[in-house]
Amino acid sequence: MADAGWVRVAGVADVAEGQVHAVRVGEREIALYHLPGGDFRATDNICSHEYAQLSDGWLEDGCIECPLHAARFDVRTGKALCAPAETDLQVYELKVNGNDLLVRVPG
Ligand code: FES
Repeated sequence: MADAGWVRVAGVADVAEGQVHAVRVGEREIALYHLPGGDFRATDNICSHEYAQLSDGWLEDGCIECPLHAARFDVRTGKALCAPAETDLQVYELKVNGNDLLVRVPG
């Protein structure tokens, strides 16, 4: 089924431009990003270094900075850009459907 795995996680209006918004889908904690210009992205919300919620960090230039030890990740690719993080974040497919944000969650 083409729509398999897509879950409505928030409304477009819930994630202001330039901001990060935390959602939970089952056991997964996911961060939604609204990049300047209107692009939305989604990654794991838990830092790959230790336990911190990236939604408490700072979004700048398409990167999220962890609030705990300042690792930075590219929110488009999940790539860990600097120490102390060495492991990339999982990224999720995201689509805008009218006023809704949908994320594809692996089964
Ligand atoms: S917990 Fe994120 S950099 Fe350490």
